[in-house]
Amino acid sequence: MSRMHITLTVNGEERELLAEPRELLIHVLREKLGLTGPHIGCDTSHCGACTVEMNGRSVKACTVFAAQADGAEITTIEGLGSPDGLHVLQQAFREHHGLQCGFCTPGMITRAHRLLQENPDPTEEEVRFGMAGNLCRCTGYQNIVKAILAAAEEMNTVKEAAE
Ligand code: FES
Ligand code: FES
Repeated sequence: MSRMHITLTVNGEERELLAEPRELLIHVLREKLGLTGPHIGCDTSHCGACTVEMNGRSVKACTVFAAQADGAEITTIEGLGSPDGLHVLQQAFREHHGLQCGFCTPGMITRAHRLLQENPDPTEEEVRFGMAGNLCRCTGYQNIVKAILAAAEEMNTVKEAAE
């Protein structure tokens, strides 16, 4: 099968690769670019474990062909924080016990990041609605919602202090 030349900007870095027309973005990210933060939970667009940001929108990378992402800007969990410099959302998930096994967490946090970009001061209901495409088999969601609301508050406090 002929392969296509694809250019992506991933976490601020330009990456070039060859991909078959049938290849999914999640496989390219994990297997060709070594970004194993986004997980594969279902491969059928239900669980949200594969969520990344593409051109400022949340997408499930198991439902995007790599070819469709040609020229796109992608952010994965690796682009949000690092072990030495956790993102406010990562810190909040840790403090509020928003994870147990952690399998859903990269997708949860990447989705929550986009949600707070679009709605920096959400209500609990808006968080629950905005996170409806991400499933967690462990936590019961209570602490995930709590963590996202706490992160929103923290981010708004920092923003106000800077103004
Ligand atoms: S692996 Fe993409 S939604 Fe489940
Ligand atoms: S923490 Fe285990 S699936 Fe969410």
